[in-house]
Amino acid sequence: MIDDVLQYEGKRAVVTGSASGMGAATAQILVDLDAEVIGLDVKPTEVPVKRHIDVDLRDRASIDAAVEAIGSPVHAVFSVAGLPGEPFSDLDTMLVNFVGARHLIESLVPNMPPGSAAACVASNAGLGWQQEIADLLPLVTTEGFDEGKAWLEANPERIATGYMPSKKFINAWVAWRAASLLEQGIRLNCTNPGPTETAMMPTFEAQAGKELIDAFIGPSGRRSTAEEQAWPLVFLNSLRCSYVAGEALHTDAGFLGAMVTGQINVEMPAQ
Ligand SMILES: NC(=O)c1ccc[n+]([C@@H]2O[C@H](COP(=O)([O-])OP(=O)(O)OC[C@H]3O[C@@H](n4cnc5c(N)ncnc54)[C@H](O)[C@@H]3O)[C@@H](O)[C@H]2O)c1
Repeated sequence: MIDDVLQYEGKRAVVTGSASGMGAATAQILVDLDAEVIGLDVKPTEVPVKRHIDVDLRDRASIDAAVEAIGSPVHAVFSVAGLPGEPFSDLDTMLVNFVGARHLIESLVPNMPPGSAAACVASNAGLGWQQEIADLLPLVTTEGFDEGKAWLEANPERIATGYMPSKKFINAWVAWRAASLLEQGIRLNCTNPGPTETAMMPTFEAQAGKELIDAFIGPSGRRSTAEEQAWPLVFLNSLRCSYVAGEALHTDAGFLGAMVTGQINVEMPAQ
C-alpha cells in the first residue's frame, strides 16, 4: 500500500490560467492533494486556492510583481494560461502563450529547489515543430522577456496566426531548456492536448470550423475534459516522474499515433 502517491502535501505550487478550464481543474486537484496553491490569472480564481494573484502575462512588470509576491520556495509550476489567437493579436498570443510564460518560469527558477518541476501546456496545434527546429531556435534562445518581445516585433511573419507558432515554440523551448535546468535538479516538460471542452473551444470552432477541430479527435471519438488534461500535468510535476524531462507528452487519446501510422488523415492548417 503506497500512501500519498503524488506527494503534493505541503508543497507550494503555482498555476497560471487558474480561473478557467485546464488551469482551474489543475488548481482544484492540487488543492485536493493538500498543496499550497497560488493561482495566477487575469481573471479571478474561483477554486479555493491559498492565494490568487492578478497577472497579465503580456506585461513584464505584472509578471515580475507576481514573482515577488509568490516568494520562495516553489516546488511546482503549471504554465497553463493561454490565448487562442484571433480575435487576439499574434503578438499578444505569443506573449501570453510563450514569452510571458517563459519569463514567469525563468524568474521562479531561483526559488525552485532540486526536485522541483515545471510543466507547460502546448497543443497538438504545434505538431511538426521538430521539422522546424532551426527556425524556432532563434526565439527559443533569446534571453528574457524584453529580448523575446523584441524578436516577436521584428519577425511578424514568423508568428503569423499566433496560436500554432506559440505552441511550436513551447515544445522547442522545453526540449532545449530541459537539459540545462536538469543540472539544477529541476525538470521541465510539456503536454500537447487534443481538443478539450473549455471556454476556449467556441473560439477555436469559430476560427477553424467544428469539422477541423473534430478531425483532431483521437481514436476515443470524443473531446477531452479539462480534468483529463489536468491529471497528466499533476503527474508530470510530481516526484513520481523524477526521470522524465524535456518530454512532450501527447495527451490526445491516441491521435498522434493514429496519424503517423496512417489511420487518421489530417492536413495541418497552414500557419
Ligand atoms: N481547449 C482546447 O481544446 C485546447 C487544446 C490544446 C491546448 N490548449 C491549451 O490549454 C491551455 C488552457 O486553455 P483552456 O482550454 O483551459 O482555456 P480557458 O480559456 O478555459 O483558460 C485559459 C486561461 O488563461 C487565462 N489568460 C488569458 N490571457 C491571460 C493573460 N494575459 N494573463 C494571464 N492569464 C491569461 C484566461 O483568463 C483563462 O483563465 C491553453 O494554453 C490552451 O492554448 C487548449
